[in-house]
Amino acid sequence: MFTRVQFVTLAVFAAISAVRAALPANCARNYTVHLFDTCNEISADLNVSTYQLALVNPQIDAGCDNLGEGEPLCLGITGQDCTTTYVIQTGDNCDLITTNENVARSTLLANNPNVNSDCSNIYPGEVLCTANTVVPYTS
Ligand SMILES: *[C@@H]1O[C@H](CO)[C@@H](O)[C@H](O)[C@H]1NC(C)=O
Ligand SMILES: *[C@@H]1O[C@H](CO)[C@@H](O)[C@H](O)[C@H]1NC(C)=O
Repeated sequence: MFTRVQFVTLAVFAAISAVRAALPANCARNYTVHLFDTCNEISADLNVSTYQLALVNPQIDAGCDNLGEGEPLCLGITGQDCTTTYVIQTGDNCDLITTNENVARSTLLANNPNVNSDCSNIYPGEVLCTANTVVPYTS
């Protein structure tokens, strides 16, 4: 029989494992968080849009303040993984981005639902999906 302490310890490990094992089965690519990582850096370095990283990892809070060292992140779901991305620079606007990245504005907005229709809420360091086809996100 387990002692109470052993049982509690096992329960805690099981809970941690459940959190750590949170990658979806249909995860196309993954990344393990390092100390001092930020969502913007992960997005920029690994070509995953700000929207997609948040969509696929609902455990990340809105300010991206709760990343844990060693935490596995899914970067994209198979069939819904935009890998064509652009990191917004100071002074960018949607006209510049659509021209330079050769993507229709309607497609840019469809693939980045976090961007408002007049693009007034984009910010330097944000990563946009600039694929020129609409990614079939299901959630
Ligand atoms: C994470 O990606 C690596 C390849 O980079 C792969 O070997 C591994 O199976 C993936 N893990 C999961 C849980 O999908
Ligand atoms: C991200 O995209 C750039 C530009 O296409 C490419 O050079 C780079 O290798 C990509 N990085 C990763 C991690 O896929």
